[in-house]
Amino acid sequence: RRRERQIKHLLRERLPRKLFDFLVQVGELARDKGVNVYCVGGFVRDILLHLPNFDVDFVVEGDAIAFARAMARTFGGRVREHRKFKTAVVVLESGEKIDVATARLEYYEYPAALPTVELSSIKMDLFRRDFTINALAVQVNPDQFGRLVDFFGGQKDIKNKTIRVLHSLSFVEDPTRIIRAIRFAQRFGFSIGGQTERLIKNAVELNIFHKLSGSRIFHEIRLMLAENKPVACLKEMARFNLLKAIHPMLTMDPAKQQILEEIEKVVAWYRLLYLEPSPCPWLVYLLGLCAGFNDAQVQVLVRRLNLTKKQACLLTSLRHSIRKAIEDLFRWEQGKQATSELFFILEPLALEGVLYLMARSRKESMRKHISLFLTQLRTQTIDITGKDLQALGIASGPIYGQILRAVTAAKLDNDSLSREEQLRMAREMAARSR
Ligand code: CTP
Repeated sequence: RRRERQIKHLLRERLPRKLFDFLVQVGELARDKGVNVYCVGGFVRDILLHLPNFDVDFVVEGDAIAFARAMARTFGGRVREHRKFKTAVVVLESGEKIDVATARLEYYEYPAALPTVELSSIKMDLFRRDFTINALAVQVNPDQFGRLVDFFGGQKDIKNKTIRVLHSLSFVEDPTRIIRAIRFAQRFGFSIGGQTERLIKNAVELNIFHKLSGSRIFHEIRLMLAENKPVACLKEMARFNLLKAIHPMLTMDPAKQQILEEIEKVVAWYRLLYLEPSPCPWLVYLLGLCAGFNDAQVQVLVRRLNLTKKQACLLTSLRHSIRKAIEDLFRWEQGKQATSELFFILEPLALEGVLYLMARSRKESMRKHISLFLTQLRTQTIDITGKDLQALGIASGPIYGQILRAVTAAKLDNDSLSREEQLRMAREMAARSR
């Protein structure tokens, strides 16, 4: 009873009104259907941590698929069912997705004629989870609304800022949890509990990463690199000898660490600007982790992490275009430094490549130029389009591209170039080409 704290007031205080009302309504639906329904996982953890997280996952003690269908009928939306796992996703009309899972059941079979008994399945469901802080649930049924279910000391660990597994086989069952432990510890500023840390070291000694598929490792690494402090995570990975365990080529010497730290600064800087598009962090950091590798070594890593064809292609082609851009930038610095030339060097590169170049530039002046490209040049447009060229009676063909490129260059080098002047340039170019 002691652990069954009411957190109704926290839900009311910390959730947007609409979401709070939604939970109440889901609870009423649960009562009508005669099942117990709980919010679980990161959502509950983040409420207790005062962090915004409006991504609710539900667990049903009963048939999750039937409950998901009832939700879709009540709130409007459709259901994607995964019969095999007894889970469903409700896709609301707003496009929001809500996971609904069936709680694991524990059966007690009694000898003789007594029937089999199903036991508190929410407890079993929470027991299979990764860390105590993620093994919390809040019931939403009206008569129990806001009852916090904490069988494994999750609240205490949140208070003590500790990442702790629920049992000693947790990492053997799922080695990706080691990477998750590091990621959550860095995200929340928590430390990994003593026993949990010993279990990680044991697991690494047992070489359990050896058997783990590249895709699963890469999935977790990608999540890790999307966090705010990926370098601290990578350092922790190195401290536990995990990078080496993934592949011996993955090292964290001081030079590599410095490259990664510069990347982190540049990515943080770019994020603060709220510019579009947002970069894929994994790609920028992977460029850094592969710094100094030759193409064959990159291929080894690509295979180990089982990157998709598309991901591998992105990485390898970007490495080549970066090499070319470095040479061009060097020449540009020695020359007249026309803004338009800078634009045409950087423009063909994917954003991740530009961020990487910025992180790798030692000269302050070069960083400033790249920053100018990202914040101003990249989005600059000219005032004429292909339609204007048509209207001028210019026959379509490669000349269109040439004209628009030349006008772009002229506008970049002379910001006050008017639309009339741009049109005149187009006419002159077309006349000359005849
Ligand atoms: N989980 C687990 N073991 C894993 C992955 C997930 O036990 N290897 C459980 C955890 O209880 C977690 C829940 O599944 O809370 C949902 O997983 P996920 O969405 O990855 O975690 P969140 O805690 O929501 O993390 P984030 O804040 O990064 O979304």
